Amino acid sequence: VRLAVLTSGGDSPGMNAAVRAAARVCAAQGVALVGVERGYSGLLEGRFQPLTRPQGDGRHAPVRETELAANLGGSFLGTARCKAFYEPEGRARAAEALKAFDGLLVIGGNGSLTGAHALHEEHGVHVVGVPGSIDHDIGCTSTAVGVDTALNSIVEMCDRISDTARAHRRAFVVEVMGRHSGYLCMAGAVAAGADAALFREQQRSEGEVVAEVAELIRRSFTRDRDKQRVLVLKAEGVEIPCTKLVREVNVLLADDLDGGALDGVSIRATVLGHLVRGGAPSFRDRLIASRLAFAGTQALLAGQSDVMTAWLPQGDGGQRTVDYNVRLFGLGEVLEETRRLLDGTSAVGQQRLELMAKGAGVLAL
Ligand code: F6P
Repeated sequence: VRLAVLTSGGDSPGMNAAVRAAARVCAAQGVALVGVERGYSGLLEGRFQPLTRPQGDGRHAPVRETELAANLGGSFLGTARCKAFYEPEGRARAAEALKAFDGLLVIGGNGSLTGAHALHEEHGVHVVGVPGSIDHDIGCTSTAVGVDTALNSIVEMCDRISDTARAHRRAFVVEVMGRHSGYLCMAGAVAAGADAALFREQQRSEGEVVAEVAELIRRSFTRDRDKQRVLVLKAEGVEIPCTKLVREVNVLLADDLDGGALDGVSIRATVLGHLVRGGAPSFRDRLIASRLAFAGTQALLAGQSDVMTAWLPQGDGGQRTVDYNVRLFGLGEVLEETRRLLDGTSAVGQQRLELMAKGAGVLAL
């Protein structure tokens, strides 16, 4: 028996720990595991590397690199967003390459799981997905590999910015990743003690965003004379660039800033960008990645296909796995729930938005 594993889409901290877990499960069961380099692109280009090596007596051992990489961020196998894979012809070539394997473990986010589902539907490939994305936008699971580390990084960097902001009595707009999902921004804002969170799901126009930030800064510094810093988290999905936002807020507040009620206050912008995605995985991401991949590899070996492992410590739904906190959901269902999360119609998404709306006044105290 021979399995393949790949990481795909944006990397997320913990992906390497998931690959290590898969290699260990395979080695323990006398199964060979091969890593596909650079996601689905590697399938099309025939880029493979063995992740287990035979021990001579039918047993296998994980290669050393799986151990060394497990505690690092990024993906040692490499990852990619593969354009050719969006076309049926590209997927047919990938399915051909996968004939050499008995199953494929896909670690990645929405696009990667969509590709895995298509491989199963169109070509009967045995696939199991492991949710990996910092964005926290994958349906049917309470979290994904990388979310925890990304949030810890956001909080740490906001704390640093707050130090220098307080020293100068400044307002900062800090942009965090999340092109389609505002979760990192919402959750990061609460944990960093920010004064406001701006995210795409609020569906505000550029003008409204500028006016809101200006008013928040004015109100915060004038209502509380001891106020030392204002921190606004902005999700990448809110289209106005950070620098433009700050420029326009400066224009709106010009009279106050220049000798008026906000004299001495200045406003700055920082885009955290890919700093949020890199870095060694937290304890929680290592644990979750290892257990999702442990259960996922076992499921693949047990003949499951077209499913994703979900981290649901409290939850029910889905099918059981060897791990009591991990459940299996059909990829079709996962992708449908992911779509609803992103277009704002899922119950989970609605609850998040309602909570943020209720918390808006509290954040801005
Ligand atoms: O999907 C993960 C993510 O990190 C998003 O939050 C972000 O918008 C995107 O990837 C950035 O992708 P890239 O690294 O290709 O610029």
